[in-house]
Amino acid sequence: MDHALAPTPAQRDERLRAVELLLSRQSANLLQEPAPDGAELDLILDAGLRAPDHGRLRPWRFVLIRGEQRAAWADRLAQAALARDPVNGQAMGEKSRAWVARTPLIIAVGTEVKAGNIPEIEQVLSAGAAAMNMLNAIHLMGYGGMWVTGANSYDPQVNKWLGFEAPSRLVGFLGVGTPRPLPADAPKISRPARDRHTTEWMG
Ligand SMILES: Cc1cc2nc3c(=O)[nH]c(=O)nc-3n(C[C@H](O)[C@H](O)[C@H](O)COP(=O)(O)O)c2cc1C
Repeated sequence: MDHALAPTPAQRDERLRAVELLLSRQSANLLQEPAPDGAELDLILDAGLRAPDHGRLRPWRFVLIRGEQRAAWADRLAQAALARDPVNGQAMGEKSRAWVARTPLIIAVGTEVKAGNIPEIEQVLSAGAAAMNMLNAIHLMGYGGMWVTGANSYDPQVNKWLGFEAPSRLVGFLGVGTPRPLPADAPKISRPARDRHTTEWMG
């Protein structure tokens, strides 16, 4: 189907249902196996690659951390935390280690900033848009995801381990997997009221 063409009424209904489904997206910080892989993961990454991008720079870079590599990654984060803060670093490192251990798939999302007339912020925003497109695809496919940054995202050493050297940089990590069922009494998080965030410009 060519989605660039004007949709038929049936296709329009299908699209409206997709938007309805998007409105149910919530971040999932309690994850379990399985994580998407193979063709499903490809679809998620391809959704990221549909992000808008001024100048067709294609600045997006995704680094997958999964399987047995997670233990080595957790060691790196523990090392980085200690280097950042010799006093509290041990505890911070253990927190990162626990997060990595309980997260089936991590997609590190970054931007490879290119020199030229496209401002750096636009290249960073484009990587953020890629992250959001992936989170939406993750949700639509029945998986769960959460975007986290924290000190690791801003640590030049952590960035370097993932192939990002300034001005290139991480925009964060997507934790991905299957959402754990929330307890029945978990509070329902309501979405913000549209009117509080939107105004009509009257000149
Ligand atoms: C750029 C960015 C960085 C974030 N970093 C963190 C983080 O480090 N830790 C955290 O608990 N939530 C972080 N969040 C928030 C969560 O991803 C999530 O949006 C929040 O828990 C609200 O849940 P919701 O997406 O279901 O509304 C971040 C969000 C964004 C957009």
